[in-house]
Amino acid sequence: MMIVEPTSDSDFRRYYDLRWRILRAPWDQPRGSERDDQDADATHLMVVDDSDTLGVGRLHIKPESSACIRYMAVDEQYRGSGIGSLILAELENRAVAQGVKRIILNARETAVGFYEKHGYRALGPAPTLFGCIAHVEMSKTP
Ligand SMILES: CC(C)(COP(=O)(O)OP(=O)(O)OC[C@H]1O[C@@H](n2cnc3c(N)ncnc32)[C@H](O)[C@@H]1OP(=O)(O)O)[C@@H](O)C(=O)NCCC(=O)NCCS
Repeated sequence: MMIVEPTSDSDFRRYYDLRWRILRAPWDQPRGSERDDQDADATHLMVVDDSDTLGVGRLHIKPESSACIRYMAVDEQYRGSGIGSLILAELENRAVAQGVKRIILNARETAVGFYEKHGYRALGPAPTLFGCIAHVEMSKTP
């Protein structure tokens, strides 16, 4: 098992496929809905084991030394074994290396506990996704 940045077309296919399967498909969202305009200049990480993609996450640097973490997703069968923590820690390392002073994210309500374990604090409600997934805005000074 290792954590890598996707580089080839086939890496990116695997990367976006996991994003879509975990974060979009269960809500009947089409392929393509798992991407956004910030993907082009973001840092992407994925944990892989041979041909399996176990987890993914993205860091996007914003102006004024802040950054946003988004699209954290771990394949259901590998959850609870530290893969999400590994991705989050490495994204935070990348942020700090680029001078980031504050990380902000919108957590699904069901994932708030995960981020709290990693030092994020809730700021308040964030927009609901697909009319049903409640989110909480959270931040951390890494
Ligand atoms: C949230 C998610 C990325 C966590 O990844 P993971 O690999 O299962 O997390 P880890 O194994 O690194 O867990 C680290 C700690 O957080 C806890 N944790 C993990 N998911 C949690 C959750 N949803 N709620 C509360 N605590 C959680 C674990 O129990 C563990 O605690 P411990 O250190 O006391 O044992 C993963 O559950 C996931 O993909 N969920 C579905 C998609 C999603 O909601 N993504 C986030 C969108 S904002």
